[in-house]
Amino acid sequence: METLKQRILAESSVLSRDVLRMDALINHQVDPALTMEMGQEFAKRFAEENITKVITVESSGIPAAFATAYVLGVPLVFARRKKTLIADPDAYTERVPSFTKGMVTDIMVSKQFLTEEDRVLFIDDIIANGDAARGLIKIIQRSGAELVGLGVVVEKSFQAGGRTLREQGIRVEPLVRISSLDNGEIKFE
Ligand code: G4P
Ligand code: NA
Ligand code: NA
Repeated sequence: METLKQRILAESSVLSRDVLRMDALINHQVDPALTMEMGQEFAKRFAEENITKVITVESSGIPAAFATAYVLGVPLVFARRKKTLIADPDAYTERVPSFTKGMVTDIMVSKQFLTEEDRVLFIDDIIANGDAARGLIKIIQRSGAELVGLGVVVEKSFQAGGRTLREQGIRVEPLVRISSLDNGEIKFE
């Protein structure tokens, strides 16, 4: 997505060799028109997949996931994060480490919103190491739903998340791929 590349160059900043600050576009402020374009693009790439549900993890994945679900005409389910989780027999839960926040959280999806009849498209904002993504993928697998793929707004391809998931046979579709943030400079692939 060329427009997205231009917006990232103009409106994000490199925090370190690992982290791109995208508060103006994704993580704090959201541009609805640009986000709808993301949704159109994901919906187009997965158009043949008979998707029944879009899924993401709160919070920053929600706008792009919502846009995609809207275009596909299916519900959006967002996994919720909990600080302390009381064991809940009616929910799938996974513990995930967070790359940026340096802590562990539990994510949860109620069993009533994910079943073996579902063909699920997972949408997320950024893939880095893939820990959060792996947690939600485990939940999808345990539910018996079919994961048709993962659409990410930004793949940082110098980190292992996207590659590792592809090696597991998961279709990963990034809108933009960033190969390096070295020297404060954003390099696209
Ligand atoms: P992931 O690759 O599956 O996302 O897992 P990872 O553990 O690597 O990343 C965890 C969190 O860090 C995610 O947000 C992810 O979006 C965020 N993150 C990773 N790299 C960057 C980056 O370069 N820039 C920004 N802005 N965020 C990054 P989260 O914990 O799921 O929180 P939330 O944003 O959804 O609330
Ligand atoms: Na995030
Ligand atoms: Na996210």
